[in-house]
Amino acid sequence: MDNCIPSGILTKDERAVLHLRALYREHGYVQYRTSKFEEYSLYTEHKAFLPPGDIISFTGANGKLMALRPDVTLSIAKSSKGDDCEQKLYYNENVYRSDGSELKEQLQVGLECMGNIDVQSTGEVLMLAKRSLESLGGRSCLDISHMGFINGIFMNTRLSPQHKKNLLRCVGEKNVSELGKLCREYGQSDEFCDRITSLTDIHGPIDDVIGKIKSISINDETDTALNELESICDILRQLDALQNINLDFAIVNDLSYYSGVIFHGYIEGIPRTVLSGGRYDMLMSKFGKRSGAIGFAVYLDLLNQRNTSQTTPETLNIALPKGRLGDKAYEIFEASGYGCPAILEKSRRLVFESPDCGVRYFWVKPSDVAIYVERGVADIGVVGKDILLEHSPDVYELLDLDIGKCRMCVAAKKGFTPDCENRLLKVATSFPNIARDHFEKQGRDIDIIKLNGAVELAPLLDLGDVIVDIVETGKTLLENDMEPIEDIVDISARLVANKVSHKFNFEAIKKLCDAIVRLAPQ
Ligand code: PRP
Repeated sequence: MDNCIPSGILTKDERAVLHLRALYREHGYVQYRTSKFEEYSLYTEHKAFLPPGDIISFTGANGKLMALRPDVTLSIAKSSKGDDCEQKLYYNENVYRSDGSELKEQLQVGLECMGNIDVQSTGEVLMLAKRSLESLGGRSCLDISHMGFINGIFMNTRLSPQHKKNLLRCVGEKNVSELGKLCREYGQSDEFCDRITSLTDIHGPIDDVIGKIKSISINDETDTALNELESICDILRQLDALQNINLDFAIVNDLSYYSGVIFHGYIEGIPRTVLSGGRYDMLMSKFGKRSGAIGFAVYLDLLNQRNTSQTTPETLNIALPKGRLGDKAYEIFEASGYGCPAILEKSRRLVFESPDCGVRYFWVKPSDVAIYVERGVADIGVVGKDILLEHSPDVYELLDLDIGKCRMCVAAKKGFTPDCENRLLKVATSFPNIARDHFEKQGRDIDIIKLNGAVELAPLLDLGDVIVDIVETGKTLLENDMEPIEDIVDISARLVANKVSHKFNFEAIKKLCDAIVRLAPQ
C-alpha cells in the first residue's frame, strides 16, 4: 500500500495511520470527518463517557461556549442515523485535552459500528481491534470484559451509584485490600465481597478462565453476559483471531454508558493502554437513538513512548521511595527473597541490580514513584496511598504493604472554630485534590493554598485557616500548638504495578507478590 512511497518519507505514525485506514476500508468502513470544535455542553453532559483530562474550552463568535474536541465518538454518535441500518465509520483525527498544566494534541484512529449489533458484528470489531494492534508491531494482546456481568453482580445489592463507582474503580485497580474495606463499609455480604474480589483475578486465555467466570455467575444477567462472551469467542475462533485475546474482568468502564463487551489493547514496551473500546448502546439512547453501537480508538501518540529498556524482559524494575519508607520496603523485598546487598552500602548510587534475583531497584523521590511506574520505566513500585489518592495514576494497586502507616487529616491551631459565615475556608496543603474532594463532599467552598511542605506553618502565620496533611505521630502538630480536627483517610504504603508490565511480565510480578503475602502475619 505505502510501498510505492520512497522509504524515509513517512513517519512511524503516518505509516501506522495508513495501515489502519487500509484495514478498516477493506472491511467496509468509510471515513468520517468532523469539525475540531463542538459545543462545550456536549462534553460536560457526557463527562463520564470521556477518559480523564480537562476539556479545552473557548467562547465562540456567537458567545456560545465551545470546546476543542477531546473525543470523536461523541460527535459520531450524536450525528449518527440511529436506526437498524448498519453504519460503519472510521476516523483519523486529532483530539485535544489538558492535564491541568499542559495542553495536549493527540492523534487517534478508530472505528464505530452502529445499527443492529449482533455477536457477528461484535466479533468482527474485536478482530479488527486485534489486527490494529498487530499492525503496530511488537507483542500485543487484547483483553476483553463484559459490563453486563458486572451489572449482574451489582443487582439487588442496593448500592448507590457512587458506591458502585468506588467499587468498580477498585476492581479496575485490582485493589483487593480496598475492595474488602469498601464492601464492609457498604454493608455487603462476604459472598458479594468474594465475588467482586475474584473479578480482579480473572484474566487469561478465554478457554482457561471461562470456568472460573461460570463459577461466580449468579443470575440471568451474568448468565446472558457469559453466553454472549462465549458466542463472540466462537466467532473469533472462526475468524482465526482468538490467539492473544484474553478475558480480564478488571477492565471496567462507566455503568451509565457501557452495557456489553468492553476491551483494552496493549503492546509490550508501550506503558499504557494503546487501544480502548466497547459497546455503548446507552450513549446512543441518551442521544435518542435506538440503534446499538460498538467501536474503539487507537492512541497513536503512545507509539512514541515505547520503552527501550536496558534490562532483559525478565528483570523486574522496582522503584523504591528514597528515605525511611523505602528502607522499610526494601527490607520486605529482601525478606521475600529479592535481596540486593549493594543497596545497603553507603553510597549515592541510585540504581542497583541483582541479576540472580531478577530485579533492578532504583531510588526515586517518593512523590515520583507512581510516575516511573505509570510510564513503565519501573514495572512495580512502592508508593504512599496519599500520593495515589492525590494523583490517581493509571496503575494496579496490588498490595497494602502495611508500612508507612499514618492518617490524612484536617488540622488547625488549637481552639480554632470554623467560621460558618460565607467566608471561604483557607486550606493550606500539599494535597489539593484530596482537600478539594474532602470539602466538596461536605458542600463547603474552599480556597486552596498549595504548599510544597511544612504546611503546619501556614495557620501559624495566618496564611491558611486549616491544613490538610499527613499526621503520623502527631508530634509536629503538638509542637506547633495545633491539633487534628477531622480524619480524612488512613494511609499506608502500597505496591503498585504498571498495567502493561502486569500483562507481559505477569508470572514474575505474581511470584514476587505471593512471596510478600506469605511473609505477612496471618
Ligand atoms: C510529614 C507531614 C507532617 C509530618 C507529620 O512531613 O507533612 O509535617 O510528617 O508527622 P508527625 O505526625 O509524626 O509529626 P515530612 O516530614 O514528610 O516533611 P514535609 O513537612 O516537608 O512534608
